[in-house]
Amino acid sequence: MTTILRRLPPGEVTGLRTGARHRLDEAYRPSDLVVLGLGVMIGAGIFSIAGRQAATTAGPGVILSFMIAGIACMLACLCFAEMASAIPSSGSAYTITYVVFGEVWAWIIGWALVLEMQLAAAVVADIWSSFAVRAVTDLGLSVPAPAVTSKVLTVGILLALSALVILGTRIGLRALWIMVTAKLVAIGAVIVVGFLNFDPANLGDFVVDPKPSSAPPDTIIDFVLGTSTTFGWVGVFAAAPAIAFAYIGFDIVATAAEEAADAPRTIPQGMIRSLVVATLIYIGVALVMVGMVPHTAISVDAPLPSGFRQAGAGWMVHVVNVGAVLGLTTVILVLIVGQTRVLFSMARDGLLPRRLAGLSRYRSPARITALIGLIAIGLALFAPLPALEELVVMGTLCAFLAVSAGVLVIRRSRPDLSGDFRAPLHPWVPILSLLAILWLMVNLKVATWASFAVWMAFGLVVYLVYGRRHSLLATPRAATGRGRHRR
Ligand code: ALA
Repeated sequence: MTTILRRLPPGEVTGLRTGARHRLDEAYRPSDLVVLGLGVMIGAGIFSIAGRQAATTAGPGVILSFMIAGIACMLACLCFAEMASAIPSSGSAYTITYVVFGEVWAWIIGWALVLEMQLAAAVVADIWSSFAVRAVTDLGLSVPAPAVTSKVLTVGILLALSALVILGTRIGLRALWIMVTAKLVAIGAVIVVGFLNFDPANLGDFVVDPKPSSAPPDTIIDFVLGTSTTFGWVGVFAAAPAIAFAYIGFDIVATAAEEAADAPRTIPQGMIRSLVVATLIYIGVALVMVGMVPHTAISVDAPLPSGFRQAGAGWMVHVVNVGAVLGLTTVILVLIVGQTRVLFSMARDGLLPRRLAGLSRYRSPARITALIGLIAIGLALFAPLPALEELVVMGTLCAFLAVSAGVLVIRRSRPDLSGDFRAPLHPWVPILSLLAILWLMVNLKVATWASFAVWMAFGLVVYLVYGRRHSLLATPRAATGRGRHRR
């Protein structure tokens, strides 16, 4: 028991004893961190999932769902920011958990983060390719065998972005700035033109009357309440976990900690600022989406393009398409970067094969990146993707639980770990964060919980068979010192 609960000493979170070959170079300025956050957050959630939720579950009340998910994520973000400031490492919640709760918990959180980012990269790449195909057909051009072309494009974007990540942080960062700027311009146009075509009558029935759902009960809360309805207040709350997908990403800013200047101060700033900006953008876009057409006319497949067409601003379709294609590109890019950093940390600590933590001549973890790219392609081609969207949220919420509980623990018993940023109103923020996350979790489907349990059970077997024995903390320091790994 003591073995699996051994804790990583705070002085070793950046892998100092593993030698210089396993350290990442500094690359991010404070403004880069905000761009990183906006790059990974604004994507499928607002361009695709929000419309689906408005049309099928929440109606115009989807704006409230955005607020509910936004408040839950802000509470979690404050806790995450405090922990990332105290323990700045590319392993993010995995390393934080390693220091505060011990190795097996760290593995569980690392495994949940792997699920979050790996699946999200595949899910978003799949949505990216449908937008890319639609962008071309909306121009009046024809696409040969759209379903096949879409799959080819999915593979192409994952290969191209993995290659970009292998070429190193600086090249990727330049591309990120350009694409995030273009995406923000497109979203600015969506909000402005959307307001010009806004009809307040469409918001009249803001929280739509509840309707019995034709689907059988499927979330934990449905089973507890014994009913299954859509719309109404139940729908507003039920849409919140799906909407939480849109907020996923502020946590990934924390994986840049080893590459950021003055990380204990700049990482919390980057996380909080990007989340605030994204929340305001989401509420603006959601407002125009439900304000341009009645909620019954919102298209599940292409909510914004169809809304603009119906409102008589058809030319905006191309702006939305370009914004979505670029926007989703940056989401995939940063997800791959974040995933490499977490796996890099796990490999550096010996919980995964340490060869994976080697850096290429571009100073990037090339082997891990190639592996992630290939797995994402496999998932995008063969997994039932839309059904797995909720699993991404589940993985993320697990990490949020760990950091929120972490704040309660370090304030009480590990004051030595305190960093530059502290969440306000202690202990209310971590307590409310835990409650809000648990609430979102019980609104997820029973099938999601079951798949998550299977993934975690598989992960625990991998840990017991491999990680526990190869952990750096299990090997005598002399055998793992700097000299051996600098070759
Ligand atoms: N938040 C990201 C998106 O909505 C994952 O695509």
